[in-house]
Amino acid sequence: MSVEDLIQNNRRWAEGEVSADSEFFRRLAAQQAPKYLWIGCADSRVPANQIIGLQPGEVFVHRNVANLVVHTDLNCLSVLQYAVEVLRVEHVIVCGHYGCGGIAAALQGGALGLIENWLRHIQDVAELRHGILAREGDPVWRADRLCELNVLEQAHNVCRTTIVQDAWKRGQPLEIHAWIYRLSDGLVQPLHFSVSTAAEVPGRFAGAVEHIAGAGQRQR
Ligand code: CO
Repeated sequence: MSVEDLIQNNRRWAEGEVSADSEFFRRLAAQQAPKYLWIGCADSRVPANQIIGLQPGEVFVHRNVANLVVHTDLNCLSVLQYAVEVLRVEHVIVCGHYGCGGIAAALQGGALGLIENWLRHIQDVAELRHGILAREGDPVWRADRLCELNVLEQAHNVCRTTIVQDAWKRGQPLEIHAWIYRLSDGLVQPLHFSVSTAAEVPGRFAGAVEHIAGAGQRQR
């Protein structure tokens, strides 16, 4: 498909939207009021809107390699601040996916250049959770668990930002969630981590990690 074809696709899509709802674009141009912020992987197979069945205007989106929330990443933090303080989203969903190339690359190591510095954050999670990951020799099992543990860690990082901490102090309704998506069936699974106050974060986080640690036993 050429890029000219993409422009043609766009024309057809816009016409389709207008014929279904003549005010669709006029309404969107006037304002956006999404209730959700999605932080997901840049992987082309994990498109936020389609997976959760939302229209343009309904979900604010930030994506990067392996859905990382790094404490000094001004890009991600700016998205989070705008979403929480201006759009006043009610939910932040950090969604990873099984079969993530970023996770696989982090596990394999090797000389990949610049991106190694980014993957280092995932390797930090792997080192932190070595006790869980070392339980099974199966590399697929290990990669799956690291995909889950990484999402959890990133959702935890969202909770620890000044942006979310300040919102909770103000009493602003805001819930943080950790989800994982499976490419092979198109289904999202919650990772037992949904928090809406600072006080419940430590307990829920520990419980969610324990749940992942128990995955080996459950699968057998
Ligand atoms: Co990925």
